[in-house]
Amino acid sequence: MSGRFITFEGIDGAGKSTHIEALAQRLRQGGCEVVNTREPGGTDLAERLRELVLHQRMDALTEALLVFAARRDHVQTLVAPALERGATVLCDRFTDATFAYQGAGRGFDAAVLSQLEQWVHGALQPDLTLWLDLPAETAAQRRAQARAADRFESEDLAFFERVRAGYAQRCAQAPQRFVRIDSSLERGAVWAQIAAELERRGW
Ligand code: TYD
Repeated sequence: MSGRFITFEGIDGAGKSTHIEALAQRLRQGGCEVVNTREPGGTDLAERLRELVLHQRMDALTEALLVFAARRDHVQTLVAPALERGATVLCDRFTDATFAYQGAGRGFDAAVLSQLEQWVHGALQPDLTLWLDLPAETAAQRRAQARAADRFESEDLAFFERVRAGYAQRCAQAPQRFVRIDSSLERGAVWAQIAAELERRGW
């Protein structure tokens, strides 16, 4: 038995958290076991690595290695066992974020990231990736109202434009898995697109 692995992606301020919670509720109402998790994080060890990645200065290679180290622990101890017992796993960011942030954002070599991806989670890929897409400027306005910035959120608009372009590239490379959701709209209209995609797949 194998459950579904659904990931959420997008630049900071895209509104992932709200919609992950809404989707978890909808799936639970339908009788699914839902595991709601995030990256970097999701296990004790990975949450400790998250603290470092978000708040400690480091170079791009260290950053990439730490997110993959966190991911390895997360996949092995939480994601894979949950999928094996048939649960639906909703994950706030996964490896596409590494290609978008460390790759496109920081300019780190995508070929090296692909190798790390192979080592860390080989054949395990999301069944569906919901990419909440919106202009970098709109996201910055939303963030400014919401919270204090971490290391990534303090980056300038040009950084987030590169990250957004990184997501667009990943989307073009995996069009079956990767679905673009227009997240510049109001909350209800964003949710309607997500619900329609799940409906279309009969999930
Ligand atoms: P985020 O998921 O936006 O959480 P919150 O809503 O609590 O701010 O924050 C995680 C940050 O980590 C985000 O800025 C992107 C960054 N990140 C990477 O740079 N690479 C990765 O591989 C992952 C998973 C996240």
